[in-house]
Amino acid sequence: DPQIIFKDAIIPEGLKIAAQILKEGKSVVGMPTETVYGLGGNALQAESAQAIFIAKGRPSDNPLIVHVSSLSMLSSLLPTPEALPTVYEDIIRRFWPGPLTILVPKSALIPEVVTGGHDTVAVRFPSHPVARALISLAGVPVAAPSANTSGRPSPTTAQHVFHDLNGKIPCILDSGSCDVGLESTVLDALRSPPVILRPGGVTHEQLMEFFPDIRVYRRSDFTESEAKQLEECPTTPGMKYRHYSPTASVILFDPITASHPKPMELFEAALVKELKSRLLLPELPSRISVMTTMGTLSEASSSRIRSLTKRHSIEVTIECLDAVAHDLFAKLRDLDAPENKVDVAFIQGTSELDLGSAVMNRLRKAATTIIDL
Ligand code: TXA
Ligand code: MG
Repeated sequence: DPQIIFKDAIIPEGLKIAAQILKEGKSVVGMPTETVYGLGGNALQAESAQAIFIAKGRPSDNPLIVHVSSLSMLSSLLPTPEALPTVYEDIIRRFWPGPLTILVPKSALIPEVVTGGHDTVAVRFPSHPVARALISLAGVPVAAPSANTSGRPSPTTAQHVFHDLNGKIPCILDSGSCDVGLESTVLDALRSPPVILRPGGVTHEQLMEFFPDIRVYRRSDFTESEAKQLEECPTTPGMKYRHYSPTASVILFDPITASHPKPMELFEAALVKELKSRLLLPELPSRISVMTTMGTLSEASSSRIRSLTKRHSIEVTIECLDAVAHDLFAKLRDLDAPENKVDVAFIQGTSELDLGSAVMNRLRKAATTIIDL
């Protein structure tokens, strides 16, 4: 089947066709959300959910997020309509629709392939008007991981989806670039204290107003047995598999503890040191890129880098945290574009504040090497 991209997804035709595909429950569609583009399938039909894993090349033990367009649809995913744990009531009121995914006990109607055989299901009510319209029109909950080939940076435009999945899916609804640019926050409040399994569009700081003792999952902050339990149960992204990786090698300069941004000079010094040590290597990368997230490189550093590398280098600057989040995946994909074909990207990390925690989570997983600043 030829792939159709519906340019303006609001046009009723694209929505109608995509909703029909979801209703039939055999195939999948590319759909915009406020976080990243999703690859949507019918969450109640194993065949459709299976098609998601096949199109993405996704490992089958990595469970999917189920998207709803109403609270009654959420109820239909629970063991009984009234079974929503009270711990979620206030945060649903505050953050839905929006980039927050919650773990809830699951109904027996949800096929195993969706939840990786676990007794909880991850649910999210997206705010994107096209996503909401599509789910309501289809009249079924929609399982949707990010619409990229497994392991690649997530897609934030319809063109990214087309690049990865052309020929593998029947249609894509194109609604321009995604607002947030990073995936939803995955919250497990069935545990006490609650744990953020994946930092995302709703921040740790925002959730702390509801759960003062909430923790963000980072392996180093958890005991061996807690980590084992969390990683074994449904694998939260990147805990088990490689994620978000461009073909270019990514060298991340990590400000580690930085609740206040470390100065630009520290990054510049570490970068120059790293480049110098690489000059000693027999095989030099021919095309490099330097991506800063806390301002621009000084003129002095720029010319230093140019003279050190004596070869092609591209400088990319993204400054405010919202813009870093919004542009991150697109910039990672740009590294591999035919006009760039970057071999090694040197990327300055951000602080861990607000969206910075989600940005750093993705960058650490994309990185081949991490240099602590
Ligand atoms: O922003 C988003 O959440 C995007 C858009 C399309 O909505 N979707 C997305 O889905 O990122 P995906 O499949 O890439 O992320 C699903 C992740 C899993 O890797 C897992 O970490 C977590 O959600 N998850 C799903 N079900 C779970 C469960 N039952 N227990 C624990 N974690 C679960
Ligand atoms: Mg993903």
